[in-house]
Amino acid sequence: MTEVTVRRMNEIDVDGVLAVEEQSFTTPWSRAGFVAEMKNELSYYLVMIESGKIIGYAGMWIIVDEAHVMNVAILPEHRGQKLGEKLMDELIKHAKVRGAVRMTLEVRRTNTVAQGLYEKFGFASRGIRRNYYTDTQEDALIMWCEKLS
Ligand SMILES: CC(C)(COP(=O)(O)OP(=O)(O)OC[C@H]1O[C@@H](n2cnc3c(N)ncnc32)[C@H](O)[C@@H]1OP(=O)(O)O)[C@@H](O)C(=O)NCCC(=O)NCCS
Repeated sequence: MTEVTVRRMNEIDVDGVLAVEEQSFTTPWSRAGFVAEMKNELSYYLVMIESGKIIGYAGMWIIVDEAHVMNVAILPEHRGQKLGEKLMDELIKHAKVRGAVRMTLEVRRTNTVAQGLYEKFGFASRGIRRNYYTDTQEDALIMWCEKLS
């Protein structure tokens, strides 16, 4: 199996991350959005690389002792191989090193695949934000992992 590595994202990775983003979401973030995230002191993003190509990314904001996951995505052709799980595991490790003790995120109510991934890391649904996603008016589940392990 080809080696997969994970490292911190920086500005030179924006094109690769945009490719993952555009193949993963109906309303993808823009290039400017990712460039702004690279300049944001609160944000911390990781890229997953195989044979020199970015095949996934994940990002969060760390606010004091809470980590807010912004996104997690794997290129469609690489899904179902536990790479999302590996990326989430790395994100949690980095969050803990930076002082986070709990983690939260929003996920579309219909995105049961992602919810299954998060549940494996101890996340549980703790609330709903009605019509959170402006493209489809879909509700978001607010998930929390109260104790990062
Ligand atoms: C969510 C995502 C990152 C998962 O990545 P992945 O590498 O395919 O997931 P993994 O192979 O690591 O699987 C981890 C867990 O996710 C869930 N999962 C993954 N694929 C699934 C599928 N086809 N059906 C149901 N659950 C699935 C399962 O709980 C799985 O654990 P299991 O294999 O022990 O059952 C990926 O599907 C993705 O990029 N989706 C589009 C972007 C997205 O929706 N991101 C989340 C935004 S909040």
